Amino acid sequence: MIKVAFYDTREYDRPSFERYGEAHDLQFRFLETKLNEDTVELARGCDAVCVFVNDTVNKAVIDKLYEYGVRLIALRSAGYNNVDVKAAFEKVHVVHVPAYSPYAVAEHAMALLLTSVRRIHKAYNRTREFNFSLNGLTGFDLHGKAVGVVGIGKIGKIFVNICKGFGMKVIAYDKYPSADSGIDYVPLQELFERSDIISLHCPLTDESRHMINEEAIGKMKKGVVIINTSRGGLINAEALLEGIKARKIGAACLDVYEEEADIFFEDRSGHILNDELLSRLISMPNVIVTSHQAFLTEEALNNIAETTVRNIRSCFDNDGICENELCYRCGNIERCRAERKERCF
Ligand code: NAI
Repeated sequence: MIKVAFYDTREYDRPSFERYGEAHDLQFRFLETKLNEDTVELARGCDAVCVFVNDTVNKAVIDKLYEYGVRLIALRSAGYNNVDVKAAFEKVHVVHVPAYSPYAVAEHAMALLLTSVRRIHKAYNRTREFNFSLNGLTGFDLHGKAVGVVGIGKIGKIFVNICKGFGMKVIAYDKYPSADSGIDYVPLQELFERSDIISLHCPLTDESRHMINEEAIGKMKKGVVIINTSRGGLINAEALLEGIKARKIGAACLDVYEEEADIFFEDRSGHILNDELLSRLISMPNVIVTSHQAFLTEEALNNIAETTVRNIRSCFDNDGICENELCYRCGNIERCRAERKERCF
């Protein structure tokens, strides 16, 4: 029986993890708290920890996990910017779920875009109050508009296809563009200048942090719509707010926010929000915020639980070998183990 401390548990996590865990002889210790230096103690006696996007897995936490004999950090997400993979090397193995439903995220990005440009969020509230006026609800056609997609990976590719289905003109930027993809890659600055809509689908790294800043916004078309379903840190939220106030940015659709860690996933409706910037963004008529919800479909939850349980079993059954390991050994974090086909440490 492998014991797993399951941090930041939500009601929707449990059914699928209980089902797959039981079938594979895993015992989950479901904890509502997030993992950080104050809560790492709760992992004592466990073989592995299972974490999500807002758990803090820094060097101090990793050193404690190692001291407690925890041998595996199993991310139940694709992104791993919250884990210090370098600090974990040679101590604790790190695995993630590389793809659970890229469709869920790409479709959510399009849902946000359609909601925004056709003012569905406004219309919904109006008709519930029996207000059937159309004043102020004028949108615009997506057909024929230029959409700039940043990051053409699993999610970005699906978003591109969805956009093509709407008859949009797609341009893209990727740090590692793939040949023969049939995608029109352009430099990032050109994408900023030409796009009516910009959707972010690249990971958060030191390089991509605040790629949408004052300078980038300055280059964009007036009225540009910005969609972020990737990571909040890709956007400098203060610059975004200034762009909105200056009427430069036509709309923003945000599923992620740089300072979301202590806010998103919680019911704060009875509290005063201690984040002026987020409050101001939410108060804007042309900003839509969802709280890191893009992944949340039945299909994705099942895939997350199935792959996470398989990752954990694989690590303990195969002496630390798992195809979804994130390893720092050669610097190529995602591909290192896949290419070496042996234990990283
Ligand atoms: P992926 O790894 O398949 O694709 C990422 C793409 O970004 C790759 O083509 C890569 O070459 C490119 N890239 C890397 N650095 C870049 C840079 N500096 N500038 C431009 N492109 C760059 O990842 P996938 O599965 O498509 O996911 C993308 C992101 O979506 C994840 O990193 C994660 O942050 C986010 N995500 C958000 C979810 C949500 O619920 N909101 C759920 C799942 C993922």
